[in-house]
Amino acid sequence: MCGIVGYIGKNDALPVIINALKMLEYRGYDSAGVAVFDGKTIRIVKRKGKIRELEQELSSKALKGTVGIGHTRWATHGRPDDINAHPHRCGPIVLVHNGIVENYLELKEKLQRENGNSFCSETDTEVIACLISSKYRGNLVEAVLEAVKELKGSYALVVMSEKEPEKIVAYRKDSPLILGVGDGEYFVASDIPALLPYTNRVVALEDDECAVLKRDGYLLLKNGREFSKEPKVVHWSTAMADEAGYRHIMQKEIFEQPKAVADTLNAYYSAEGEFGLFEESFSQKLIEAERIRLVACGTSYYACMVSRYWFDRFSRLPVDVDIASEFRYRDLHIDKRDLCIFVSQSGETADTLAALRLCNSSGATTVGVCNVMESTIARESQAVVYTLAGPEIGVASTKAFTTQLAVLFLMAVYMGWIREHLSKDEVKSMCNPLVYIPGLMEEVLRLDGSLRDLARVYMKKEHFLYLGRYLNYPIALEGALKLKEISYIHAEGYAAGEMKHGPIALIDEQMPVVVVAPPDKVYEKIRSNIEEVKARSGIVIAFNPKFNTELEKICYHIF
Ligand code: BG6
Repeated sequence: MCGIVGYIGKNDALPVIINALKMLEYRGYDSAGVAVFDGKTIRIVKRKGKIRELEQELSSKALKGTVGIGHTRWATHGRPDDINAHPHRCGPIVLVHNGIVENYLELKEKLQRENGNSFCSETDTEVIACLISSKYRGNLVEAVLEAVKELKGSYALVVMSEKEPEKIVAYRKDSPLILGVGDGEYFVASDIPALLPYTNRVVALEDDECAVLKRDGYLLLKNGREFSKEPKVVHWSTAMADEAGYRHIMQKEIFEQPKAVADTLNAYYSAEGEFGLFEESFSQKLIEAERIRLVACGTSYYACMVSRYWFDRFSRLPVDVDIASEFRYRDLHIDKRDLCIFVSQSGETADTLAALRLCNSSGATTVGVCNVMESTIARESQAVVYTLAGPEIGVASTKAFTTQLAVLFLMAVYMGWIREHLSKDEVKSMCNPLVYIPGLMEEVLRLDGSLRDLARVYMKKEHFLYLGRYLNYPIALEGALKLKEISYIHAEGYAAGEMKHGPIALIDEQMPVVVVAPPDKVYEKIRSNIEEVKARSGIVIAFNPKFNTELEKICYHIF
């Protein structure tokens, strides 16, 4: 996942760009580069590897100037090396790019044939630079607008011209770009955290919008016409996006969960049984809904799977849960009485966004559950409920997941209330105890030390099984996903009742089996599943919120 930064203002551009790129490092990348106008020419320095390697290279070069752009690249077209790294140059044009240009080979051949261009990199980005260069007649904005007409795919472009060095042109199509409005200085970045050290006033570009950043301001264009958009204030700070003494950002985010969940619950529910989720006029659509569709990717999808049980119970409507990347390919009959809920931490996940657009164009009611203000899914949904997790920098979702669960639970109960399946007293008995959740989360986090010891015991295992039933079936899936993504250990999540239909064959004395086994309505069933694992000498690691002598006897480890 690439990162983009651009700066024009009164200060030295290079430190600003490097610092802002570092705020995007969490996205993963394999090379980095910068371009700065030094008063005569635009000088480019780029390197394979980490930003610190780029900094080493820069230490011997005096790259001075107050306008510049930077990029962290995650290789798509061409291997990660110095040449394929961004920025790319063609004639006077220098640019950085996120996204994928699908017709780049066709354009490359045309530029070679008609203009005699030669290319030094394997990237689609260099093709865009040459395409803009071929359109350039002294007006960078016109050249960019002409060039994008020929591009197919997704792209966020940030472009400079050596002949007009006092401006940066940015263009967005299906890949996020945010302007930062400072005091006599202007920024552009692919994600809000890059801007936080400098400003919290942002303007999110929408598809096919173009921004021109100059020293004395910025202007916005769409379909060749100028328009205005007021900056919005983001209530995030740099401190929220750093490690704050934790070993790494993901650990910090795990420990932020009690506060994130408390903030989210307090924002949308009061002990008097009042909800603050939707405008009254919008709630009418929820009353009229005849079906609920929950759509998301990854961890957000598992939050949807958990919430399905709540929507089933409280809304009493048919509930579908879909992986966003599959949703579009079903032969669906989306109805205007469908309530479609899109859950996304970033609010930018391409498949979730495509599913939202499909539902919007089919006349359905759409709701976004997003963590990032002004993100595309938040803007394009007919209503949005923000999870108040603060910036989630770790790529693997943690605190966003638990705040999504908080929002989805409240939404499900709210549906039950407005559709008159729940009385006010029932609402209160369901929601008032949520106030204890942050404290209970603190208690779970105090297991940190003993869980770390456990991890040391089993860190060399190659396979894990995670089991759960009912609400904890998706929790088992999420646990397995986290182990895969973070520890690179193969893990499978299963509905415990399905174990006998295959995975049981894998269980022997080598196999750790993590079981979520709270005293709920399926406890007896899951205890039998634990017995089945034990009968095959599997290593049962169980989670149960209460002291339970029965489980103590049959599990290797119980937390
Ligand atoms: C993945 C992340 O790539 O994207 C997951 O690793 C995340 O943690 C998923 O859940 C979906 O992202 P989002 O922003 O749509 O919730």
